[in-house]
Amino acid sequence: MAEKLVFLSDEYFRTVTDRPVFPQITGETIAQRFDTSLPVEAEPLESLIDDCRAIIDGSRHNGHPRFFGYVASPSTPAGGFADLLASTLNPSVTSWRSAPAPAQVERTVVRWLGSLIGYDDNAVGLLTSGGSMANLTALLIAHRAKAEHAVAQEGIANGAERMMIYVSAQVHMSIPKAADVLGLGQKSVRIIPSDDRFCFNAIALDEASKTDQRNNLKPFCVVASAGTAASGAVDPLAEIGDVARRHGLWFHIDGAYGAPAAMVKECKPRFAGLELADSVSLDPHKWLYTPVDCGCLLLRDAAAARKPFVAEGEYVKVHETAELESFAFWDYGIELSRRFRALKIWLTLKFYGARRIAEAIAEDMEMAKYMAQQIEADPEFELLAPVQLSICCFRYVPASLSDQMKSANNHEERENLHAELNRLNERIMHRMQRGGRAYLSNAMLCDTFALRACIINFRTTRADIDITLETVRQTARELEAEENS
Ligand SMILES: Cc1ncc(COP(=O)(O)O)c(C=O)c1O
Repeated sequence: MAEKLVFLSDEYFRTVTDRPVFPQITGETIAQRFDTSLPVEAEPLESLIDDCRAIIDGSRHNGHPRFFGYVASPSTPAGGFADLLASTLNPSVTSWRSAPAPAQVERTVVRWLGSLIGYDDNAVGLLTSGGSMANLTALLIAHRAKAEHAVAQEGIANGAERMMIYVSAQVHMSIPKAADVLGLGQKSVRIIPSDDRFCFNAIALDEASKTDQRNNLKPFCVVASAGTAASGAVDPLAEIGDVARRHGLWFHIDGAYGAPAAMVKECKPRFAGLELADSVSLDPHKWLYTPVDCGCLLLRDAAAARKPFVAEGEYVKVHETAELESFAFWDYGIELSRRFRALKIWLTLKFYGARRIAEAIAEDMEMAKYMAQQIEADPEFELLAPVQLSICCFRYVPASLSDQMKSANNHEERENLHAELNRLNERIMHRMQRGGRAYLSNAMLCDTFALRACIINFRTTRADIDITLETVRQTARELEAEENS
């Protein structure tokens, strides 16, 4: 089994570039192949390997050089084989007692991540399933740090004033979701309109917080993005940090996607203010190229971080007294049993070195810039947001519609054309996604449907960008031809 599965993994890494990005298969065919009856008796190994091959063939390939959807990076051999070993060893990284070396490795990689992005060389924290869990945990810690009553005993609703979180209109959906999960309610999330670069407006934040205080609400937290999911906008972290300090707000930075770009020397000024945050989310399974799942929450103040998680059960009582040996991750997060995620970060950083990873990130940013240049040079395309990191948002505008837009002389006509363009680009995206040549997803930017390429792949070349843009043009022409036939 070891030989065959290692062979399959190796073959996959070598052939991923030659596959269609999305399987040319229907849900019906996949169901026929896999919706089978329960295997009561063991099956021969060869048949299991056939299943694995069919699973590979029926997958979308996030590691393909022309996969640009959502925020999904390729795996690497270092990450893939680390996961194999982690599952083979199978520690449950609840605490030092349960997994002495794995727990130490996790504490070390958390510290490394803090220093890699210029946050804090002594950051504490933990690895999570991803950015959503890191954000949820951060908001839980923030709320308990700022609430004036004993929330663990009394719950949220003890008659106290509503506690408010401030976000920009570009915030990731995991933040309002966290507010909901924590029982704060989405009404506690004050959305501040972003500026014309899709960044947080610090002046508007200051005003909103003052207004809410006058109205007997209690501002307690602001969430800035170090790379929004939609367009990769980096909020003015130092300005937001300053407002947070003046208003006594917990300052959380969602860097799930973009924080690793702070490793790139030329980017450092853009991330100034990151060091002011009380907590930062960062996903190694996005721009550090480790396999899913692997998120991370970094925290500055270990005591505040532990406040919500006082575990008192006899079952988890720690009998060790030395600091290192009494350490428990349940003091910092929600989960008890936890997989050994740290090994894939450890092996990735040691195998490639942080310098090479930073170079790969810089190359991804170059690719996004190149894409934006090609878009700006082509009258059939319109760039919809500045490229700040490695996301490029644009739309296809056929010459016929472009002319009509220029001559439209009333609001209604412009709105109709806008809606038509939105529909056209949505159809282009959907057809491309199923076509298998290149894969884009979308972003809604001020009611405009944008085709969106998020480039976090060391395999992507300029030729891949050219092919992708050519595929957009061809797809648009196909749709036009079908409409006219
Ligand atoms: C900025 C940002 N925050 C949070 C998340 C959520 O991360 P995850 O999917 O790992 O839960 C994402 C996902 O794309 C993201 O881009």
